[in-house]
Amino acid sequence: GADVEVDISGIEPGQLVRVMWRSKPVWIVRRTPAILEELGTHEDKLKDPNSEAEQQPTFAQNRFRSMKEEYLILVGICTHLGCSPQHLKDGAFEEVVEGVPDGFFCPCHGSKFDMAGRVFQNVPAPLNLVVPPYQFVDDTTIIIG
Ligand code: FES
Repeated sequence: GADVEVDISGIEPGQLVRVMWRSKPVWIVRRTPAILEELGTHEDKLKDPNSEAEQQPTFAQNRFRSMKEEYLILVGICTHLGCSPQHLKDGAFEEVVEGVPDGFFCPCHGSKFDMAGRVFQNVPAPLNLVVPPYQFVDDTTIIIG
């Protein structure tokens, strides 16, 4: 079928893993407590902190945008014109947004997203990165689709 099963047991804290789902890249990020805390520090700089502007799973309409806070699952495609944003971590994102150590940067036209895939203001991307449908089969297995 079109659904993809992923074993997430080997993902280290802070690591991003890429899988393909329906010809799209999907990212699974294991967020550390520090990254989760970061999400509360810059909401005044976001276009849509609660994902109200788009169709999203209900569980994604909050700061974490995930079923389990620790695991962020996103379609890795910029909502502007479809480029693939880069994951900048461990302080590298500070070059893009001052005071925010981790995030995603789209090299095509400079859109910026935080570690919940929420888009920052004053960039061309109109919407937060898409959360795909998924479910946890057990603690270490997810099905995307
Ligand atoms: Fe990402 Fe334009 S495609 S900013």
